Amino acid sequence: MSRIAVVPGSFDPVTLGHIDVIERAAGIFDQLHVLVVHNPDKSALLPVAQRVALIEKSIADAGLPDNILVTSWSVGLLVDYCTDVGASVLVKGVRSQVDVAYETPMAIVNRNLAGVETIFMLPDPAHAHVSSSLVRQVAALGGDVSPYVPKAVAQFLQSPATR
Ligand code: PNS
Repeated sequence: MSRIAVVPGSFDPVTLGHIDVIERAAGIFDQLHVLVVHNPDKSALLPVAQRVALIEKSIADAGLPDNILVTSWSVGLLVDYCTDVGASVLVKGVRSQVDVAYETPMAIVNRNLAGVETIFMLPDPAHAHVSSSLVRQVAALGGDVSPYVPKAVAQFLQSPATR
């Protein structure tokens, strides 16, 4: 039986920390779905379709395996998507105890709702301080985001058309 996992997130924008988790999760599961989820609690920088395109480009540029599908989800529960595609596992990167505290109730609810398990993955320490919100802030104030994001994202955020 093929093991399918989902890495969900806002990915606004995708960071090197996300790519690290995606790469390692893709090495564990037969198929990995990277799912861009609209989070109504956060004000977005990029449209969802742009986030998907930047993840796809970053994954291709990094030479990641071809068992990764990038898509988006905007209606209903995250576990509904998992059920629809036959995924039994969610993978979440956790950088700190703050992330663990934020993710734990969601992990329990998702298991209660649909039996979908959550696996917490520790990021490479090189990326432990990197977050999309930090990248958005640095980019908005004209700083260099290239240490924190894939090249395609840095180029996109720093292009005159985006700023
Ligand atoms: O990158 P983020 O913003 O931390 O990702 C959070 C996300 C999108 C994974 C989270 O908001 C989420 O799981 N949303 C799905 C909504 C849902 O199913 N909620 C009910 C069970 S927790």
